[in-house]
Amino acid sequence: MSSGPLSLYIHIPWCSVRCGYCDFNTYVTDTSNSANTAPYIEAVRKEIALASATLKGGWVKTVYFGGGTPTLMSAVDMGRILSTVRRSFDLDDSAEITTEANPETLSPEYLEDVRGVGVNRLSLGMQSAVPHVLATLDRVHTPGRALESVAWARKADFDQVSLDLIYGTPGESMEDWEATLVSALAAKPDHVSAYSLIVEDGTPLARRMAAGLLPYPDDDSLADKYVLAEALLSNGGLTWYEVSNWSKPNRECKHNMNYWRSGDWWGIGAGAHSHLDGTRWWNYRRPATYISKLNEGKSPSQGSETLTADERHEEKLMLKIRLGEGLSVADLTDAEYARAEDYLGSGHLVLTGSRLVCTVAGRLIADKIVRDILMASPRMARREKPKDLPPIPPPPPGEPVVAELTPESTIRISEVQWAHG
Ligand SMILES: C[S@@+](CC[C@H](N)C(=O)[O-])C[C@H]1O[C@@H](n2cnc3c(N)ncnc32)[C@H](O)[C@@H]1O
Ligand code: SF4
Repeated sequence: MSSGPLSLYIHIPWCSVRCGYCDFNTYVTDTSNSANTAPYIEAVRKEIALASATLKGGWVKTVYFGGGTPTLMSAVDMGRILSTVRRSFDLDDSAEITTEANPETLSPEYLEDVRGVGVNRLSLGMQSAVPHVLATLDRVHTPGRALESVAWARKADFDQVSLDLIYGTPGESMEDWEATLVSALAAKPDHVSAYSLIVEDGTPLARRMAAGLLPYPDDDSLADKYVLAEALLSNGGLTWYEVSNWSKPNRECKHNMNYWRSGDWWGIGAGAHSHLDGTRWWNYRRPATYISKLNEGKSPSQGSETLTADERHEEKLMLKIRLGEGLSVADLTDAEYARAEDYLGSGHLVLTGSRLVCTVAGRLIADKIVRDILMASPRMARREKPKDLPPIPPPPPGEPVVAELTPESTIRISEVQWAHG
């Protein structure tokens, strides 16, 4: 059962084209034909009602439409989904309601309508200001379109506008990346997310790289681009609060902060993941299966897992080390703190009050730092175990054991009356 306010993520799995680098759960869909979209929207509304019945309502503090391309949905449909949320949960005017948006799907009128149904935060997929970089990413918008969209969003009275950028695209020079940052800052966003390009297995981009048609990203150049982003964004009045995220004061994304602080959220939609008090579950990925489960009156969940105390501890450290607010020393065992001291000495971490915070050099290797700090936990030791060592003996009585997880396991939340899957 959710103990605090809840976040709702709502997945909209439609795109007009498939970008070559993307492996999100999304499908090229003709959204101009409502026959292709209405059954999914109805299923989403059913799952919101199911979440409310399961949790007996409660306070929702953030809603996030993600995708795919949520802005391929009409403002009327977005409003119908939000009406269902309002009928099912307490959603007051202070709630942060975000939609991701592809610039080419926006117009001033559409943004007015979306704002009119209650969406107050826009996260725009700008990616780059450089035409050849956008072309390599298969993005169909022109560089100016994202910036024009920021102006329209301001006019429509959105409280917050965020820009998503990607660096490390093959062929992107340092000057290209600088031009993108300068251009993004000129639009005066409240928030910027800058992601290093991830080459996802199985994508057209990965195949082009494997065939030698495009070069793989170079680690040194990615690090230089990160350092440039930190310099220009902070100079432009945006402060980092998570490794890949910068914002004006008090303009951090509350929805994502809830993920990173290990809060509770319910992921609505095909393939969406949820987390309540240490139990996670995930929905069927295929929209047709997701819709049919809900139409049959069943849960759309395909599987679940309940984290052990060790796993919760590891996850907490992994998420918090990436935050500007850092990791509380009180969250570490003595042995873990002793290992963290190496990174204090090397200048990758600093102690701010009683919290360990990454320096810029530390942010470049945040995941390695936390792996090293956790090295001796039973689970990490097992992960790192070379193949020729004898098996690790069972832990002594009383020590937490890593659970055997099966995708079919039933989630253990006393209030949940129905089995997932
Ligand atoms: C879930 S996507 C969807 C948003 C929207 N459809 C778009 O592309 O603008 C959200 C963001 O994830 C980032 N992203 C997606 N795939 C990525 C990849 N392979 N590497 C780095 N960033 C990626 C992009 O910056 C994108 O704006
Ligand atoms: S990056 Fe965005 S627009 Fe491109 S395929 Fe992925 S979700 Fe769709």
